[in-house]
Amino acid sequence: MKDEERIVVLRDQVNYHLYRYHVLDAPVISDAEYDALYHELVALEAAHPEWVTADSPTQRAGAEPLDAFAKVNHPAPILSLANAFSVADLFAWRQRLERYLPDPAMPLDFVAEPKLDGLTVVLTYVNGRFTQGATRGNGEIGEDVTQNLRTLKAIPQKIPVAPDSGLALPPYLVVRGEVFFPLDRFEAFNAARLAAGEPLYMNPRNAASGSLRQLDPKITAVRPLTIYCYDLVAWEGASVPDTQWERLDYLRQLGFPVSADSVYCADLTAVAAAYEAWIPRRNQINYEVDGIVVKINNRPLADSLGFVGKDPRGAIAMKFPAQEKTTRLLDVQVNVGRTGVLAPNAVLEPVEIGGVVVRNATLHNYDEIARKDIRIGDTVLVKRAGDVIPYVIGPVIEQRDGTERVITPPAVCPFCNQPVKRIEGEVAIYCDNPACPEQLVRRVEYFVSRGAMDIGTFGGKTGALLIEQGFIHDIADLYYLDRAALLALEGFQEKKVDNLLSGIEASKNQSAERFLTALGIGFVGSVVAGLLLDAFGSLDGLAAATREELETVEGVGPQIAASVADWFADERNRALLEKFRAAGLPFASRRTAVSVVTQSLTGLTFVITGTLPTMSRDEAKAFIEAHGGKVTGSVSKNTNYLLAGENAGSKLSKAEQLAVPVLSEAELREMVGGD
Ligand code: IVH
Repeated sequence: MKDEERIVVLRDQVNYHLYRYHVLDAPVISDAEYDALYHELVALEAAHPEWVTADSPTQRAGAEPLDAFAKVNHPAPILSLANAFSVADLFAWRQRLERYLPDPAMPLDFVAEPKLDGLTVVLTYVNGRFTQGATRGNGEIGEDVTQNLRTLKAIPQKIPVAPDSGLALPPYLVVRGEVFFPLDRFEAFNAARLAAGEPLYMNPRNAASGSLRQLDPKITAVRPLTIYCYDLVAWEGASVPDTQWERLDYLRQLGFPVSADSVYCADLTAVAAAYEAWIPRRNQINYEVDGIVVKINNRPLADSLGFVGKDPRGAIAMKFPAQEKTTRLLDVQVNVGRTGVLAPNAVLEPVEIGGVVVRNATLHNYDEIARKDIRIGDTVLVKRAGDVIPYVIGPVIEQRDGTERVITPPAVCPFCNQPVKRIEGEVAIYCDNPACPEQLVRRVEYFVSRGAMDIGTFGGKTGALLIEQGFIHDIADLYYLDRAALLALEGFQEKKVDNLLSGIEASKNQSAERFLTALGIGFVGSVVAGLLLDAFGSLDGLAAATREELETVEGVGPQIAASVADWFADERNRALLEKFRAAGLPFASRRTAVSVVTQSLTGLTFVITGTLPTMSRDEAKAFIEAHGGKVTGSVSKNTNYLLAGENAGSKLSKAEQLAVPVLSEAELREMVGGD
């Protein structure tokens, strides 16, 4: 296949796998296989920049920052919704409609959809290609956020319509959807901002809005935004289904993400039942919903009913009861995080909010407490949303009786009694004692957690216990645990100890990206860890980098660069790294370094066999391709090199027969200049 054809195939394949992963949540290939395809595309595009198209999946975060957003005229008004707060309101809505219906008593059916608490976007497709994305704005004119929306992997860049699907795709199509910030990501996101001394987002909705309205799309690209689509705003050149229920399915068939939680309701009683069923469910899903949207299923009829102000008559929002309650603030406890941030935590008089008893809530930081003038003994308003930690919104000043006490930040760390530190320009207060035992507990928890080294056998309380028993003085000590000494601990039977140790041992096979993440360097989560290792190849490369060099990496700003440089400059951290190295932790990235691709293997054909020391076969393939080489399945006269690892079989003998040179992984790395 010629490169020009291959690039088209790859573009479609990568887009398809993004769709499987981000829209259907049902990937059909492994991450490594996906990476191989993606990197092959990157390499081909690097060799042929003239073939790069705007809808290529590699271009999702490629655009340059804007000075300001351009204005966009929507093709039709982007309407809002009237609210109902009870089943009675719902029936009253039906009654109000009577005057406008062709027959007041006609039966109506409905669709009940979750009302996502995000922000509306309007997506334009011309000939199946995503050409423009805009915010709602005032409903008539919005802001052009196309380049930011391109970074959302759930938004199709190109609508794939199989020729045999029988689907008619209008050459001009405008779709409406709601962009939101998944709840499970919100808390960690805010925690990172807190640690960085950055202002917090009040709720996932604000985080979604703040993330989308960034002039620099590279910022949007690293925020975990996603979208559900629910409406067709405009179309030309082909017809679309007439009912809302079919339209949702039509959107789904075109490859848009559509909530699976919408239900068809044959009448209003069914709608009322759907509403009741939603109330207990709303806290179990990964996005914030503030109600359901009830839509008349017959869309031409619904649209013919017109609107009142900005609210269409044919649909209504049924809001859920508020997830806010008042209770008493009994005390404030201090928690210390793994970076040493001391965070105030509210101890509340237990209160039931949305079916859950809430006893604790976050107070964010001491500046927030002062700004809102929250005092111990206050009646406070507490909000709970999904899985997000409940938080104190503020005090009810009118309820004060004068016995309330002002909250002062601690002068010393409550866990190690060392004086607390404040960093100029940051709101957080820190315990900067590296020997603080509580911080170590947090660091170990983080090190073994699923997003980091993922040591599943290291249970919740194990870290605290081993620290208390003096087995662990720093995170590297995890790799120096003594089996006999562990067996002497109460409750540590042989099986448990062996499980624990084999889990720890197995973690040495994790990637360098995970290891770097697990070190818990400020601002270095998994995304940044990947960027850094792609650029510097290994932890040693990273340690040798200057602040200026760090800043040249795309996605790494001055704050991250300073945090990384400071961490590696610290003697204690250097010593910690050596201890990890001696234990056999992975320092070199096995990934293909996209940003340092060379063309050094162009024109060379490789075959891979056996088990390589650090790369999987997929990774080796991606590596070769990213450097311009080709990988084929069997050894022939046209093979330039056989890349062989342990237990190589017939391919190795064939290569020897044909006098094809055999390479090790290390020799391969040397060929491309070593990384
Ligand atoms: S339909 C004419 N459906 O709620 C169509 N809106 O309070 C009006 N929203 O501005 C919108 N989920 O931002 C619709 N399934 C859904 C929705 C939804 C969330 C938002 C949307 C709208 C607001 C109205």
